[in-house]
Amino acid sequence: MLQKVVRSAVIDAPIARVWQVLRDFNSHDQWHDVVEASRIEHGEPSSRVGCVRSFTLKDGNRIREQLLGLSDTEYKSTYCILEATVPLKRYVATVTLKPVTDGDRTFWHWESTFEAPPGRERELHDMVAQGVYEAGFANLRKYLAAPATHATPVARAGAHATATGREVRLARYGGPEELEAVDMQVPPPGPGEVRIAQRAVGVNFFDIYLRRGWMPGLLPLPGVLGMEAAGTVVDVGAGVGNFFPGDRVAYLCPQPGAYRTLRNVPAQHVVRLPQDVDEEAAAALLLKGVTADYLLRDLGRVRPGTRLLVHAAAGGVGSLLCAWASRLQATVVGTVSSEAKARIARSHGCAHVIVAPDYRFAQAVQAHCGGADVIVDGLGAAGVEENLAAADRRCHWISLGQASGPLPPLDADRLVAKSLTFSRPVVFDYVATPRELQERADRVWRALAAGVLPPPEIERFALSAAGQAHRRLESRASTGSLVLVT
Ligand SMILES: NC(=O)c1ccc[n+]([C@@H]2O[C@H](COP(=O)([O-])OP(=O)(O)OC[C@H]3O[C@@H](n4cnc5c(N)ncnc54)[C@H](OP(=O)(O)O)[C@@H]3O)[C@@H](O)[C@H]2O)c1
Repeated sequence: MLQKVVRSAVIDAPIARVWQVLRDFNSHDQWHDVVEASRIEHGEPSSRVGCVRSFTLKDGNRIREQLLGLSDTEYKSTYCILEATVPLKRYVATVTLKPVTDGDRTFWHWESTFEAPPGRERELHDMVAQGVYEAGFANLRKYLAAPATHATPVARAGAHATATGREVRLARYGGPEELEAVDMQVPPPGPGEVRIAQRAVGVNFFDIYLRRGWMPGLLPLPGVLGMEAAGTVVDVGAGVGNFFPGDRVAYLCPQPGAYRTLRNVPAQHVVRLPQDVDEEAAAALLLKGVTADYLLRDLGRVRPGTRLLVHAAAGGVGSLLCAWASRLQATVVGTVSSEAKARIARSHGCAHVIVAPDYRFAQAVQAHCGGADVIVDGLGAAGVEENLAAADRRCHWISLGQASGPLPPLDADRLVAKSLTFSRPVVFDYVATPRELQERADRVWRALAAGVLPPPEIERFALSAAGQAHRRLESRASTGSLVLVT
């Protein structure tokens, strides 16, 4: 017969603190007296759904358990026994926390079901209820009440200390040769910051503008480029309650500095990664995908039938725009500089591809669709006259970037002839709050999972070869996203 054990307790600590310990599937040997030693198999992160903890009890028994579910919004985790020397069969347990507002305490509900051999039901029921759950409540209370060095298991190893790493430093504005990999020190995370061990860093054309010295106010020298990366949280500063060491995360941050192995980042710019998105895909996609999201949804208001002109249609942002816009049933017209890129753009849903290495595309746009309703223009200087000619009446010309050179000052009267509108957006204004960032990132992950966005095509470079990645991007030879791996 199926046994059911239900126990609950109130713990005299805030829910974020209790959850910080319990969501780490490998923390139990630090706070539960019955556990002798525990490890996560195959070196997986200890909060990743599917990971297996293998542990021994002080009485010599051995158990393997798998994490089946983890919800940071519901403060809930579910796990099961895979193998055990104790005769518990089909054991599935759930831990759920609720805040107790009176005194900022935590209600902890722990329940399980399992089968026991005939005649041993009572014994095993009591062992789970008292030996594991009630003892666990008491042990965690004791653990949390201990001095801070004992009470912060996940932050103990090297946390709140200065750490060393590598970064790619720019000492002088100029070409890719100015990028140099050097050792560096990272201070402890400040209030509101998380420290991230970075696995993959996204390279964006914006990094090139900064390297050339087009925005010295944003990158004083010596400086470090890079607006986005993905990795694992290894420490958190004061006041951070929503991220924990072991979390796999990505960020895009309006202050450059991502070309590093280790970085402290304000938590407001960070999102947790879904289980099926690895760090390289996240670094390839987050900034560019969020950019495609705001361009299509908010600024371009792309609908079925919208005639959308996308430049560099096989590039990082361009290929995502083509794929997503074609799913929205827009008519996508793209420009590229080679036949090889044209094939890539077509495979991403671009209906009409114009091969125009010399930036002469207006006539072909008019011939294909009678003019554009929305232009996403990352070209800058070289495309001005042709964009004006490719636009239909009431077209919205979005000046996204300046890959061919700085956009010259635009006389507003040039827009009058066709009642054009013009905008000059920056992605960071479209992820100005953590909520907005989370919503846009979620849409990107969902689009990826649903196949609306293709798995990112990634060109990988070592972090120390950042200069090579820049040369490749500037040469107009790259397609898809470039990522630096640490
Ligand atoms: N404002 C924002 O919020 C925002 C956010 C993200 C990106 N952006 C902008 O969006 C554009 C695309 O960015 P990305 O990082 O995805 O880069 P990308 O498109 O992968 O690479 C840039 C592409 O621009 C084209 N290009 C045309 N003339 C060029 C020239 N003289 N030198 C180099 N490239 C030239 C090339 O494609 P072809 O060879 O096919 O012409 C090249 O592959 C950039 O302008 C970037 O600044 C803006």
